[in-house]
Amino acid sequence: MPAEEKYFKILTTIDIPSETKLWIRSYLFGLVLLAGAFFYIPLSRGGYDIYTMNKALGDVGIFLIGLSFALSGICYFWNFADTKFVYRKHLGLTGFVFGAMHGLISLFLIPERFSFPSYYLAKVNILPFVFGLTAIVIFTGMALISNKYAVHELGGKLWRHLLRVGYIAMFFILLHFGLMKFQYWFPWATGGFKTLPSLSLIAAIIIVIVLLLRVALEVSVRRKKVV
Ligand code: HEM
Repeated sequence: MPAEEKYFKILTTIDIPSETKLWIRSYLFGLVLLAGAFFYIPLSRGGYDIYTMNKALGDVGIFLIGLSFALSGICYFWNFADTKFVYRKHLGLTGFVFGAMHGLISLFLIPERFSFPSYYLAKVNILPFVFGLTAIVIFTGMALISNKYAVHELGGKLWRHLLRVGYIAMFFILLHFGLMKFQYWFPWATGGFKTLPSLSLIAAIIIVIVLLLRVALEVSVRRKKVV
């Protein structure tokens, strides 16, 4: 079955909660994850401070945006999450708000650690910064067109293509924190997994899964078109 047909079938068979419920549930889910991340991070390093909250906002932002993207693939290949299909926009925008807060806090509220602009312009930090900034610009564009007015103005096909740029932003975010955190992931793995995995490593794995799922969806859709 073509993807659009499958999604149409889901949307016409499930009970769709009101917009208010979709928003409240998405934010509550995000806040529960944020609390979990805030307590998890210091189990391996750091304390309960703004620095940890800032990491947690970045990590949970990835998780929510990743889940929002992954729902298309999950609902295409399997049926168990069909009732959650309608949360794509709300989870994605909640994740965007968390990611944007993380970006703003990093830039302006932790000057003792990440002083603006000197920290970001240093040779070792400039690439992670450019990737983070580019991704946030792409996510902002996606947030601006995630409404019925934009679908109407742009036309469904162009609108869907524009939203797919989000996968490039996801890859940029992987580079954004991968370049900063890779130096910690490797010794953790080679050192015999003695502490809990860092959330940044889990976030990186989530991004890889989301990108692979998108490739699998594309391959499957194209194969069906050929047959
Ligand atoms: C202008 C935009 C951004 C800036 C200036 C920025 C800045 C930073 C900085 C300074 C760190 C290192 C924090 C640390 O060592 O704990 C970091 C890590 C990270 N950033 Fe960003 N960021 C931006 C955008 C984003 C966005 C949009 C996301 C995701 C939605 C994101 C996700 C992450 C993640 C997952 C980490 C690793 C957190 C961890 O160590 O657990 N960043 N960012």
